[in-house]
Amino acid sequence: MITVEGLTRKYGTFTAVDDVSFVCQPGRVTGFLGPNGAGKTTTMRVMVGLTPPTSGRVTIGGHLYQDIPNPGRHVGVLLDASAQHAGRTGREILELGARTMGLPTTRVDEMLDLVSLSQSESKRRLRNYSLGMKQRLGIAHALLGDPSVLILDEPANGLDPAGIRWMRGLLRGYAERGGTVLLSSHLLNEVELIADEMILIGHGRIVAQGDKKSLLAGAAGSGSTFVTALDNNALSAALSAKGFTVASAGEGLRVETEPVEVGRAAVEHQIVLTDLRAADGGLEDLFLELTSDTQREVLG
Ligand SMILES: Nc1ncnc2c1ncn2[C@@H]1O[C@H](COP(=O)(O)OP(=O)(O)OP(=O)(O)O)[C@@H](O)[C@H]1O
Ligand SMILES: [Mg+2]
Repeated sequence: MITVEGLTRKYGTFTAVDDVSFVCQPGRVTGFLGPNGAGKTTTMRVMVGLTPPTSGRVTIGGHLYQDIPNPGRHVGVLLDASAQHAGRTGREILELGARTMGLPTTRVDEMLDLVSLSQSESKRRLRNYSLGMKQRLGIAHALLGDPSVLILDEPANGLDPAGIRWMRGLLRGYAERGGTVLLSSHLLNEVELIADEMILIGHGRIVAQGDKKSLLAGAAGSGSTFVTALDNNALSAALSAKGFTVASAGEGLRVETEPVEVGRAAVEHQIVLTDLRAADGGLEDLFLELTSDTQREVLG
């Protein structure tokens, strides 16, 4: 279990992480999601003692990371897959890790197998690794000591779709065996695919948290409908006559009511629909909405 309590990290007058509190439970994969510069990496660096907090604290299994003897046996960390000696081979990096943690070198081959790095790939130097290979090696390194907690910063970065699916299976299995996983991403799709729980951060502050369902239930815009008809004008008139708010949206209309009501109006007026769906926009809209003041791009 990871417990973040009132964590604040300032750089001069700038507050990178602002009074952040959350908990990552064992048996769950927790996604830490936010746009670039939101404070994800900073929070994770504090977790593993690389950055001191300005105030607040993080404990892992009730202990500060610094106080955990042989931390690699308890907490697997992947913050920056390139932060290894570029001249070492993948195998050497894992062997060094195993030696530091007092593990048999057989563990290295197990981990190489687990992350699907071949024997010949493991003998290449890190500088010649592709991004995805570095990530796989980083995950192998994090899992080396068979820890009960995993802290992974953008682990899916550089993985191909098959790789992301593989990682999802790996982390799901790990959580099912009772492990605690925290993984960050600035990409909603990745987190949505992998995580059970989500923590949304923007501008150093937590803007929402919970499982996917409860986040969506609280999303603004839920309960509206996107619809397209052969005759949008006729449909719009029919819906307005029933008192629903209608606005044009792309090829179709956005209506402030449930899809079933829109379908009913269409049937009554014998209007042919070509598309009808809930227009909550899902998590993506929620994510953009909640973090909009921290987005770099103006969306619209
Ligand atoms: N050592 C530092 N000195 C000054 N500012 C810093 C330092 N480290 C981080 N920051 C600032 O803190 C903010 C949060 O950075 P952080 O790396 O935690 O974001 P992030 O959520 O990981 O973003 P990304 O998705 O781009 O990785 C940024 O504005 C960053 O410039
Ligand atoms: Mg980051």
